[in-house]
Amino acid sequence: MRINKLLLTLALSTPALLPHLSYAGEVEVLHWWTSGGEAKAVQPLKFSLEKQGHTWKDFAVAGGGGETAMTVLKTRAVSGNPPSAAQIKGHDIQEWGSLGFLTNLDDVAAAGDWDAIVPKIVTDIMKFNGEYVAVPVNIHRVNWLWANPAVLKKAGVSVPTTLDEFFVVAEKIKSAGYLPLSNGVGSWQDATMFETIALSVLGTEGYTKAFVELDLEMLASDKMVEALVKFKKLRDYMDSDAPERQWYKATSMVANGEAAMQIMGDWAKGEFIALGKVPGKDFICAPAPGTAEQFTYNIDSFAFFDLKDSGDVDAQKALAAAILDKNFQETFNLKKGSLPARTDLDMSKFDQCSLDSLASFKMAERSGDLVPSVSQGMATTSYVQGAIFDVVTDFFNDPNADAKKTAKKLAKAVKAAI
Ligand code: BGC
Repeated sequence: MRINKLLLTLALSTPALLPHLSYAGEVEVLHWWTSGGEAKAVQPLKFSLEKQGHTWKDFAVAGGGGETAMTVLKTRAVSGNPPSAAQIKGHDIQEWGSLGFLTNLDDVAAAGDWDAIVPKIVTDIMKFNGEYVAVPVNIHRVNWLWANPAVLKKAGVSVPTTLDEFFVVAEKIKSAGYLPLSNGVGSWQDATMFETIALSVLGTEGYTKAFVELDLEMLASDKMVEALVKFKKLRDYMDSDAPERQWYKATSMVANGEAAMQIMGDWAKGEFIALGKVPGKDFICAPAPGTAEQFTYNIDSFAFFDLKDSGDVDAQKALAAAILDKNFQETFNLKKGSLPARTDLDMSKFDQCSLDSLASFKMAERSGDLVPSVSQGMATTSYVQGAIFDVVTDFFNDPNADAKKTAKKLAKAVKAAI
C-alpha cells in the first residue's frame, strides 16, 4: 500500500514515468494514387486516422510511377516543410535517409512485430542504417500480361506464354481488325514494357547482371540488343493515339474490348476491379510472356519525415501502425491488385490473380527468381534509373534509332550515372 502511494507520487512528479498520452494531430500524406482504383484503395486509411481523432490532409500528385510527386516532394522538403509521410519506394528510401530527413519508427515496428510479419526482402528496403524509416503497404508484381478474353476469342487466339507466341498472337489480332496492345505514355511505362521484355530475353541472371549489378558488358551485350529489338517490335501492335494516355486509360481499353492486351503491373487489376470487371471472366491475368518463373517486384511504401509538433508526431505514428493493420492490409490490397505486405493474412477473399501472384512470389523466392523492378525504382538508384529511362524512351520513340548503338549508349549512360 505504502509502496503504491510512493510510486504514484513519484510518477506524478516525473512525467517521463507516466504512460504516454496521445494527442490529436494532422498527417499530411503525399502519394500518386489518383486513378479510380487507387483512390478507392487508399480511402480506408484516411478513415482509420480520422476515427482516432487525427486529421488527414491529402497531398495527391497525379502521375503513375511517381516522377511528378517526387519533384514536388523535393521542393517541399528543401524548403523545410516536408509532409508527415510520402510514398517513397525502393532505393529512394536510402537516398532520403542519407540526407537526414527521415524519422525512426522502431518503436511502432517493435509494437507491431514487423520483423516477424513482413518478409525480409521487404523489411530490408524499409530500413536505413538498420532502423525502420518507412512502412510497406503491399507487394506488386510488375511482369503481368492483361487480356480481354472476348477479343482473343474473336481473333481465334489464346494467351501467349512466350515472346515468340506473343508476336504471332499480336499479328493475328491485328489481322482480325483489333488493337493488339494498349499502352499509355511516359518513360516509366516504356520502361515497364522494356524491363519485362528484357527479363524474358536475358533471364534472371542476365537481368540482375545488367540492372542490379550494372555490369557494363551485359548492358551493351548482343542479348541486350535482342531485347531492344523485340521491345521496339511492340510498336507494330500499338495505336498512335497514345501521346496523352494515362496507364489506367490503357487498362480500360482492355477492359471494354477496345484493345486485346496490356503489359503492366498488377495495379492494373485494381482498375479492372474498380470498373466492375471479374477476373477470369471479363479479363485474364497471366505472367508476361516468357517470365512465368520470375516475379518482378515493386513494393509500395511510405517514408516518414522528422516532425516537431508532438500531436503531429503521434498522428504520424498512428498512420505508421494503421498501414500494417490487418483489416487495412486486406481491404487495401483487395482493391489495389497487390499482395499484402504482411504474410499472416487470411487470403480467402482474394481472387485467383492474387493467389497466382502469391504462389509465384513464394516460388520465385525459393528459386532465386525474385527480381527488383527497374521502372519502379527497386533495382537501382534514381540517377541510374533516370539514365535508363532516357535511353529506353528515346529509342522507343525514334523510328530510326539503332538497337546496337542504343545498347552501347545504355552502358555509357549507366556508367556516367553510377
Ligand atoms: C506504384 C503503384 C501505382 C502505379 C500507378 C507505381 O509506381 O507503385 O502503386 O498504382 O505507380 O500509379
